[in-house]
Amino acid sequence: MALAAAMRENPLASSAFLKACAGQRTELTPVWLMRQAGRYLPEYRALREGRSMLDLIRSPELAAQVTLQPLARFDLDAAIIFCDILPPLAGMGLRISFDSGSGPVVENPISVTRDIDMLAVPPASETLGSTLDAIRIVCAELLPRGIPLIGFAAAPFTLASYAVEGGSSRSFTRTKLLMYREPAAWDRLMRKLTTVLGDFLCAQAAAGASAVQVFDSWAGMALGKEDYLRSVHPHTAQLFATLRNAGVPAINFSTGTAAFIEDVASAGGNVMGVDWRLPLDEYWKRIGFERPIQGNLDPAALLAPWRELEPRVDAVLDQAADRPGHIFNLGHGVLPETCPDVVKRLVDHVHARSAGRGAGRSGS
Ligand code: CP3
Repeated sequence: MALAAAMRENPLASSAFLKACAGQRTELTPVWLMRQAGRYLPEYRALREGRSMLDLIRSPELAAQVTLQPLARFDLDAAIIFCDILPPLAGMGLRISFDSGSGPVVENPISVTRDIDMLAVPPASETLGSTLDAIRIVCAELLPRGIPLIGFAAAPFTLASYAVEGGSSRSFTRTKLLMYREPAAWDRLMRKLTTVLGDFLCAQAAAGASAVQVFDSWAGMALGKEDYLRSVHPHTAQLFATLRNAGVPAINFSTGTAAFIEDVASAGGNVMGVDWRLPLDEYWKRIGFERPIQGNLDPAALLAPWRELEPRVDAVLDQAADRPGHIFNLGHGVLPETCPDVVKRLVDHVHARSAGRGAGRSGS
């Protein structure tokens, strides 16, 4: 179904978040934060005590509980389902773990092209059912409260980098070597990932997620414009083409891509998620003001005193300049050192200031 028609049927279509995703004016600027559920919250750390990250993800009840934790504290305009970007790799036959203390690990990363041919492409309903069940639980809770839930997955490049490097990387050497030396194998890997991710995101929408976000956290950290266009863009564009049938808006988020944000934008997505490396209005002008935008406060600013943080929050709102289609967020995820009281102050300030200015009010 076309997005506009599907959105009319969504009971949460009049929520500030979904209106902003559709480029419509809102009473208040909607705000949510990437990684709003996680280690900076003492209640998350308490629940995580004695359990692994995968224990939380694979229990629909616990994943739902973590998803809802930040909404009990803060007046957020959307929730994001608690999961991680790696679980789709487990369904494809890779062994993943989060216990290394330095980010997630793939224990049997891809090393030869035969490994790519061996990767399975199972439907999400078979291998990611616990996350789909968690979405159903959270949506039942949030629907009466009028709050939409965001589903998510990695973009093909970011997931490929974990599958090939075996974990987080600074230089992405192995990933680039595969891309440069074995372009046909690289394309096969990216096509398999794109199929799995497209199916997972559509399944999240079918389970009740009102929007989906695609995280390309590493493409801009690893690649220049030419390699992005040649080896990544066609696959990311295919993913967003698939998502046009999901009936929910898709958010195209990346970091480190300021140098070629127009090319990232042309891969698709209804909303562009941007990092803090350029002022919001510079990004928005380059992307086109008709396209909704999400961002873009530096997450480290939340560690600064309020007298330093407040003008930075106001600067993002000033740059949005009451145009319809702005969703306030950070330029990347909440840092674990962040104080929850600061998050509360931030969320309340964005709402109060946008109300005070009459931001985006109909007819203004
Ligand atoms: O609240 C939310 O945003 C939903 C939960 C969420 C997690 N991971 C939980 C998590 C989301 C959206 C992600 C996405 C994710 N995971 C990305 C894309 C976004 C980004 O930040 O760039 C990436 C690259 C990952 C990979 C990942 N997972 C890393 C690098 C790490 C370790 C370092 C870190 O930032 O925590 C994880 C582990 C992880 N994912 C934790 C959480 C709450 C910490 C796990 C723990 O120790 O309890």
